[in-house]
Amino acid sequence: MPLQIGNLTIDSPVILAPMSGVTDYPFRSIVKKLGASLLVSEMIASRAMIMQTRQSLQKAKVDALTAVQLAGCEPDVMAEAAKLNEDMGAKIIDINFGCPVKKL
Ligand SMILES: Cc1cc2nc3c(=O)[nH]c(=O)nc-3n(C[C@H](O)[C@H](O)[C@H](O)COP(=O)(O)O)c2cc1C
Repeated sequence: MPLQIGNLTIDSPVILAPMSGVTDYPFRSIVKKLGASLLVSEMIASRAMIMQTRQSLQKAKVDALTAVQLAGCEPDVMAEAAKLNEDMGAKIIDINFGCPVKKL
């Protein structure tokens, strides 16, 4: 049964969870080939995103139905980062509101 998120139809219920250090572009491409319908990026710091650091641009690269996960605490910066990712092809912006893992 398809899943509807806003105007997006997700065909199969197989969705790749966001995992820092794991769900990079090559990993997502493989998972897509194996049948995932929606991919989620690694978490990206919104401030690094708007500064367009090499690492954040790499994390934000998309060419399939992908949600990009953003973290941050400044609404204006997060909005700008979201817009940038939308322009780069992200179909969903997933906001990470905080992680209990200390090193993150
Ligand atoms: C190595 C690793 C990195 C993760 N990084 C993130 C992350 O950046 N953002 C996030 O929301 N969740 C992160 N998670 C959590 C996963 O997205 C997922 O919610 C969690 O592994 C539970 O998945 P499950 O319910 O399928 O077992 C991470 C999990 C792992 C194992």
